[in-house]
Amino acid sequence: MTDELINRAAEDIIKAKKVVALTGAGMSVESGIAPFRGKGGIWEKYDPVEYAYIDVLRTDPGKTWILLSEMQKEILKAKPNPSHLSLAELERLGFLSSIITQNVDGLHHEAGNKNVIEFHGNHRQAYCMECGKQIKSEEISLETLPPRCDCGGVLRPDVVFFGEAIPPEALTKSNQETRSCDVMLVIGTSAEVQPAASLPDIAKSSGATIIEINIEETGFTGYTSDYFIKGKAGEILPKIVNKVKDESTNLSA
Ligand code: OAD
Repeated sequence: MTDELINRAAEDIIKAKKVVALTGAGMSVESGIAPFRGKGGIWEKYDPVEYAYIDVLRTDPGKTWILLSEMQKEILKAKPNPSHLSLAELERLGFLSSIITQNVDGLHHEAGNKNVIEFHGNHRQAYCMECGKQIKSEEISLETLPPRCDCGGVLRPDVVFFGEAIPPEALTKSNQETRSCDVMLVIGTSAEVQPAASLPDIAKSSGATIIEINIEETGFTGYTSDYFIKGKAGEILPKIVNKVKDESTNLSA
């Protein structure tokens, strides 16, 4: 069954004029980064209302930085896994227009993808909330929390907190990509957080085929998704890309 769906996905990708991927935390689990929801998820340990809202960062930055420092350590040591490398290859082969990612780990760029829309920002970059000075996260010492700029202001990663708007450029570009694709790969996301979770519905209402890859069913499964491929992204995506390579070489031979 899974093999049939993998073949079907490869065919849909080859036939499509434009393929876009929407990715979530499930992509990076195989790189050692914890997801947000489910077993072992970040929100099991830290209540987002207490730790992840912009108001908390402003009023009690030391508390938010307990969560942020944990994420930062995980992100800075993570490397792209086969799922990231497969999407990079798909773009290199000319079969993937862009990735809209909710992930803040920068692993799609590190894998080699050029057209990546970071919907929730990037944790590898930070700036001072007082003077705006930019700094790479790897240069931030986590010995005393919250970390501070030379000016004394609190540093924050360049990510979107709950209660903050999606960066306008990312929102505009994502909408354009979503409305103009004819296949959307929805990979490793729980479909829980808006506005990202509405992108597959927008793509579908513009006529796109939605292919979902996840280890478990989500709110998209059976509704928004045209079909669901159950499995780890790092196992399913390399198979799809190999099939795309085989089939597209056969076509051009
Ligand atoms: P979640 O943690 O909500 O969901 C991760 C999804 O990945 C789940 O559906 C898992 O079943 C799936 N999954 C886990 N391991 C997988 C694997 N190896 N292969 C494929 N799928 C796997 O993460 P997101 O949907 O990305 O926002 O969460 C969306 C947003 O919620 C995040 O960007 C973050 C969070 O609150 C902000 O912080 C603003």
